[in-house]
Amino acid sequence: MANQKVIVGLDIGSNKIRTVVGVVEDKSHAINIIGVGISPSNGIRKGMVSDLDEAATNITASLEEAERMSGEPVHRAWVSFSGPSIETYDSKGVIAIGGNAEITEDDVDRVLDAARAVSLPANREILRIIPKSFSVDSQHHVKYPVGMNGIRLEVEAHIIAGQVSAVKNLEKCLYRTGVSIEEIIPSYLACAEAVLDRKQKELGVAVIEIGASSTNLAVFEEGTIIYSTVLPVGGEHVTNDLAIGARAAIDTADKLKIEYGTCLKDDVSEREEIDLSQISRTDAHTVSKKQIANVIEARYHEIFLMVRDELEKIGRAGMLPAGVVLCGSAVKTPGVVDLAREILGLPAQIGFPRDIEGIVDRVDDPGFSTVIGLLHFANRYGTTRSFDFDFGKISDSLVSFFKKLLP
Ligand SMILES: Nc1ncnc2c1ncn2[C@@H]1O[C@H](COP(=O)(O)OP(=O)(O)OP(=O)(O)O)[C@@H](O)[C@H]1O
Ligand SMILES: [Mg+2]
Repeated sequence: MANQKVIVGLDIGSNKIRTVVGVVEDKSHAINIIGVGISPSNGIRKGMVSDLDEAATNITASLEEAERMSGEPVHRAWVSFSGPSIETYDSKGVIAIGGNAEITEDDVDRVLDAARAVSLPANREILRIIPKSFSVDSQHHVKYPVGMNGIRLEVEAHIIAGQVSAVKNLEKCLYRTGVSIEEIIPSYLACAEAVLDRKQKELGVAVIEIGASSTNLAVFEEGTIIYSTVLPVGGEHVTNDLAIGARAAIDTADKLKIEYGTCLKDDVSEREEIDLSQISRTDAHTVSKKQIANVIEARYHEIFLMVRDELEKIGRAGMLPAGVVLCGSAVKTPGVVDLAREILGLPAQIGFPRDIEGIVDRVDDPGFSTVIGLLHFANRYGTTRSFDFDFGKISDSLVSFFKKLLP
C-alpha cells in the first residue's frame, strides 16, 4: 500500500484476545480500521500466561480473524496486557549540565537514565518510564527542558515495571504465533490513549478500566500521568459472586450477568424471576432478578470504594475536574456509571475509542478501547519522528530511548 502504513494492536486479556488492524495515511495520520479479530482467552489467568499452548492457539485465532477481514498478514504487533504483575514506582533523576549550556535531547536521555537507576524488587523489569516533570536549576514544573539553559537538570518520572517471568512468557507465546512484538504497553496506558483527550488530561482525569481479572486505574493531571495502580478485582469476581448467589454454573452466571445484570437494584421489582433453563443447559431453576441486582451492585460498589481509597491516597478523591472515564467490557453492566458517579463523587462517563475511521461499528465498545489505544501508540510513537507527548514536544532520541527500555 503506497503512502500507507499497516499497524496492529493485540490486547491479550484474561477473558478475550482482541486484534485490530489499522492503516495510517502518511499525510493525514488518520487511523483507518480494516480488520478486527476477537477470540476467547483460555490460557491467560490474571493477565499472565497460565497455559502456553492454549494461549498461543487463542492468539492465533484472533490474529487470523483480523488477517482475513483486513487481507493483511500480521508480522508485528503492539501488545498490551493487564493484571497484578504490573507495578508502578516514582523515581527521580538528576544530572549536571556542563558550563550553563543549552539542554539537549541527549541530556534528557541522560537524566531519564538516571531516574531509571531505581532499585526494583527482584524479578521486575522496567516496561516504560514516563517523565512527569523536569526542573532546571531552581525552576520547577518545566514541561520540556530542551533549549533551556541551566547547570542542573532534574526529572520526576513514573516507572512502570512488569514481572520478568510474566513478560517472558508473553513473548514466548507471541513467538509461537510467529508475530514479533513492537512494544508492550500496560493496558491502562493504551486505554487512556484511546479515550482521553488532551484537555481532560490537563484538567485532571482518571481512567478506570474494569476487565475480567483486574481493575486498572490511571490518574492524569497537567497533561501527564501522576498515578497508576492495578486492583486485583474485575468482572470475573462479579460472575463468581453470581454463581454462588444464584447457585448456578460459572457459564450460566456469566450469561445471567450479561443478559439480565444491572446495578440499578431499585429499578428491579421484587417479583421478577429469571428461568435459568432459558440461558443454560445445566441449570433449570429460577432466580430472583432483584437478588441478582443486589449481588452485582455489591461487588461494583466494593470496586469503586477501592478506587476511592486509591484516589484518597494521592489527595484526589472527589477532586478531578474532568472526572472518571470507564472502560473495559465489565463497565457495560447498566448502572455502573451512576454507581461510579455516586461513590467517587465525580463526573463519570463510558470511554469509547475516539479518533478512528473505517469499520468503527465493530470496535465502538469500551471493551475495545485498550486495543484501539495500541493503534494510537503505534501511530504517534512508532511512525512519526517528532510529536506531541503528554507534556509537549518529545524527540526522536527519546523514542529510541523508550525502545531501549523494552525487554
Ligand atoms: N455486556 C456486558 N455486560 C457486563 N459485563 C460484561 C459484558 N460483556 C463482557 N462483560 C464482562 O467483562 C469482563 C471482560 O472484560 P474485558 O474483555 O475488558 O477483559 P479482558 O481484557 O479479557 O481481561 P483483563 O484485562 O482483566 O485481563 C468479563 O468479566 C465479562 O463477563
Ligand atoms: Mg483487558
